[in-house]
Amino acid sequence: MTPAPQGRSATAPAQGRTDVADRATAGFHSAYDEQPTGRWAAPGRVNLIGEHTDYNDGFVLPFALPLRTVVAAAPRPGERWTVWSEIADQPIDFGAAETDAPGRVTGWGGYVAGVVWALREAGYAVPGARLAIASDVPLGSGLSSSAALEAAVLTALADLGGLDLPTERRPRLAQRAENAYVGAPTGIMDQSAVIRCHAGHALFLDCRDESVEHIPFDLDAAGLAILVVDSRAPHRHADGEYASRRAACERAADLLGVPALRDVPVTGLDAALGRLPDDETRRRVRHVVTEDQRVLDTVELLRAGRVPEIGPLLTASHASMRDDFEITVPEVDTAVEAALAAGALGARMTGGGFGGCVLALVEADRSDTVAAAVTAAYAERGFAAPGTRTVLPAPGTTRLP
Ligand code: GLA
Repeated sequence: MTPAPQGRSATAPAQGRTDVADRATAGFHSAYDEQPTGRWAAPGRVNLIGEHTDYNDGFVLPFALPLRTVVAAAPRPGERWTVWSEIADQPIDFGAAETDAPGRVTGWGGYVAGVVWALREAGYAVPGARLAIASDVPLGSGLSSSAALEAAVLTALADLGGLDLPTERRPRLAQRAENAYVGAPTGIMDQSAVIRCHAGHALFLDCRDESVEHIPFDLDAAGLAILVVDSRAPHRHADGEYASRRAACERAADLLGVPALRDVPVTGLDAALGRLPDDETRRRVRHVVTEDQRVLDTVELLRAGRVPEIGPLLTASHASMRDDFEITVPEVDTAVEAALAAGALGARMTGGGFGGCVLALVEADRSDTVAAAVTAAYAERGFAAPGTRTVLPAPGTTRLP
């Protein structure tokens, strides 16, 4: 989940803006009058398929975006952290006291303090540091700007402190910052994606044991593209609705006597639905169980190099989110319908829902046509113009040279 939107589109190119890493370095220099020790970059993400399955111990298939958050950082003596950000008027500054308990730093700084808190709580000696943050990952568009910030800060502090912290452990710590310090009850997908993704691949993640497989996702070779549409829909009660969906899934798992909905096999779905008390709960469960299966089916097709054939699975995922999980809004439904009518092979909302972005699988030479069709459909419905861009799977969090 993200802090309040800043009015920058998910899909607008950073026109007229200097490179994000250069902005972080320049910010560091202007704030502290010294050069940083290093710079660390973490990407935003889209989820190809597998929505609201992560906190049900299920499967997801995200990939990293070529939009990044960069942290320039240098160590300092003592347990103090100063953080400059290009989106804030003033740097924030906090010490050990503010990271002794969750929630003491609020706003965007809470994501940074939350990482320090989570590392300290896990027993790591976190080095004091000065940090400067710049980002091309838009806030509030469902592309995981918060996970990118957490991952960049966590990786910077781990490197500066020489912490013995294997990559596979990092997503849980970043998630803990978000869940327990900031207070958003999200799953493990976003932090795993931004930390563990590889360029040219989607990340097949089993959210129960956090095992991963990097699935080749070579869109160029298949003559395809992923078009990302920023729906520009205002997030309507997204946090409360997310929490209520999660609670409904946990209640349903209890009723069915399983640890998580992942344990309901798709072959036993009808029997499970028959044991649930009401239609709404049945639809929530049906979404999660069928969505897990769609992830597995998508992975099979990608492993076999049958990329175009994943289109119908993406579209089925959208229908399930719209009709069963009830997390779409008119703007995203319009974008999906218009993209499909213009020839997209498949399209779906990506992320937590109630706005955010839509992704469409398109033949590469039709991406402009599909984008124009979505824009026209928006104009017809009187919605604010959407943002559109094509993306390729990018690398996860790295230290920059
Ligand atoms: C948000 C959360 C994730 C995941 C998705 C829905 O992005 O942060 O953990 O639950 O929603 O798939």
